Amino acid sequence: MHLPDFYIGDPAPAYRDLRRNSPVHWTSANGGFWGITRYEDIKFIGSRPHLFSSAKGVLMPDGKPRTADPRPMLITTDPPRHNALRKLISKGFTPRHVNAMEPDIRAIVRGVLDSAEAGVELEYAEGLVAKVPVRIIADLLGAPAEDWEQFRAWSDASVGSADPGITLTSQEAFGALTTYFRRLIELREQRRANDLISILMDAEVDGESLSHDELMSFLHLLLVAGNETTRNLIALGTIALVDHPEQLRMLVEDPSLIPSAVEEMLRYVSPVTHMTRWATEDVELRGRSIREGQAVVLLYGAANRDEDVFGDTAEQFDVTRRPNPHLAFGTGEHACLGLSLARLEARVFFEEFLARFDRVELTGEVLRMRSTMVPGVRTMHVRLGAASGKAPVR
Ligand code: HEM
Repeated sequence: MHLPDFYIGDPAPAYRDLRRNSPVHWTSANGGFWGITRYEDIKFIGSRPHLFSSAKGVLMPDGKPRTADPRPMLITTDPPRHNALRKLISKGFTPRHVNAMEPDIRAIVRGVLDSAEAGVELEYAEGLVAKVPVRIIADLLGAPAEDWEQFRAWSDASVGSADPGITLTSQEAFGALTTYFRRLIELREQRRANDLISILMDAEVDGESLSHDELMSFLHLLLVAGNETTRNLIALGTIALVDHPEQLRMLVEDPSLIPSAVEEMLRYVSPVTHMTRWATEDVELRGRSIREGQAVVLLYGAANRDEDVFGDTAEQFDVTRRPNPHLAFGTGEHACLGLSLARLEARVFFEEFLARFDRVELTGEVLRMRSTMVPGVRTMHVRLGAASGKAPVR
């Protein structure tokens, strides 16, 4: 549970066993932590930030002592500060703002897909899918299109993604991005534009606005939170379609199923496998004693296969599943702030992709990222089959 191999392989059988036999499971690896696998328990913990704090970080424990981050990001802030920060930042993620991005997102997706040719082997994860979320974030921030490739290189290096063309260390890339963000902020200080940075600079709740440091730390979080996650959803979602050709056929024949297919990909793939909390006092859960200071790892991927919620088809991939109350975006106070944007990106991607290509064939091995939290696809080679005689979805 503490190693990438667990997530890169098929964790479903282990999850099933844990949900059934040890839903609040102590493991002594990495200094010790509790693994939580049942849907109901993750909802319980996620909605009690006073008992289960995010302040010492949400990454899996690594055995090193953790203290609260002196310059916390939104994701590592507890209430009441979290509520205030989240209210301010939410101003940039209203449904109106997100929906208004659809034409830009469609143009970005089309531009990326224009480079894909039917019948020719191509690398899909790094070469195609990864370009979409990072360009959308750059566009959201108002970064000019000529900067996008540079922005992507810094962004990938700063989150540790191994593009063969990247020679920067993550520290150097983080520094370069900080300088770049500072310049964007300075430009917006002189003149506001129609972009997220301008909205966040003007955001005010109860007479309070974001400090410069808070804005900077949020811009960095945006890259970490919105980049690999969306890429992982689309790449692993595509593999789920390859593995279930009858489901792919249903989508090609009826693209109105794409929104529910995206929900099912989120549930089935669970692009973010877990997040961690830290107990602020002793808590009893299912007869187990969680002690103050201990780490609790919320295994969202396990909750998303919970038979108590998803019935006896929990292990199946069904693009028509409804309702689908998955926890792929987390739950409670810290539930994903970018979920509408992520849903929109994935929907538009598959609408455009399936209008052009109605067959996907894997032509080699799928190479995964060695990560416990977002064990995405590093590379996957595919051959695409051209869809015949269908107009692109508008
Ligand atoms: C498929 C794509 C995505 C998945 C699966 C995902 C998943 C998650 C999860 C599980 C959390 C909960 C964190 C916790 O429990 O502590 C989260 C938080 C967050 N996500 Fe996403 N995310 C995705 C895309 C995005 C995008 C596109 C953005 C922004 C552009 C974004 C921004 C955030 C932010 C800012 C938070 C922190 C919210 C808070 O702490 O209040 N995410 N995400």
